[in-house]
Amino acid sequence: MSVLTINEELFIGSGGHQATYIHPIDPRKCIKIPHTQNDGDIRKEMRYRRICASKLEKSRLITEFFGTVDTNLGLGYVFERVFDYNGQTSLDMKKFLSKNRSPDTKTLQRLWTILLNFKSDFLREKIAIVDADIENFMVQEPSPNVFRVRIVDNIGTPVLIPLIYWFEFAAEWKSKRYWNKIVAWMAENYPEIVPIEFAEQLEAK
Ligand SMILES: Nc1ncnc2c1ncn2[C@@H]1O[C@H](COP(=O)(O)OP(=O)(O)O)[C@@H](O)[C@H]1O
Ligand SMILES: [Mg+2]
Repeated sequence: MSVLTINEELFIGSGGHQATYIHPIDPRKCIKIPHTQNDGDIRKEMRYRRICASKLEKSRLITEFFGTVDTNLGLGYVFERVFDYNGQTSLDMKKFLSKNRSPDTKTLQRLWTILLNFKSDFLREKIAIVDADIENFMVQEPSPNVFRVRIVDNIGTPVLIPLIYWFEFAAEWKSKRYWNKIVAWMAENYPEIVPIEFAEQLEAK
């Protein structure tokens, strides 16, 4: 069986669970290599993608999954890579907001539109996420000044009986709770971008 060779030049980023690389043959894809075999987060995500396949395949937020490959670094999980019109890997939401620490009026308007669109996608799709860590969201710019938020990590639920996978009302309740956690976190950490008045508008009622 053939083994894909990944080198450090392809490295994108790494968190607590996996390292992400650009796919050596197809730059529209990325490969994630878990730090440990049988990682709980990967199992959780794969169960979610299996049980909610038809919903997640239609999602605007969730990246496509293409299966596993053998690599020189071990078993890799192949996903759609989130990148901008210029070919660069998109920024995660934390870096994106940090880049705009003191926005002028026009930039602020643009940021608010991105966040309001993210809100409507998130509440419509009712994606299950495990925490409000905004580093797992990426802000994609598919063409100049067109922005779209994507969710790349930490989806699913670790609970034994995942009611939110089976019942839409449970998914809705949970997604609103998580959305409001995200809003509260941004209001606290980026008050110049999400001031109280805008936070109230952004909250899920
Ligand atoms: N689909 C993707 N496209 C482009 N970059 C990605 C993608 N998924 C993750 N990344 C980058 O790799 C980093 C680590 O990946 P992530 O899946 O969040 O791993 P961890 O579970 O260790 O947090 C992310 O913070 C992000 O910058
Ligand atoms: Mg992560």
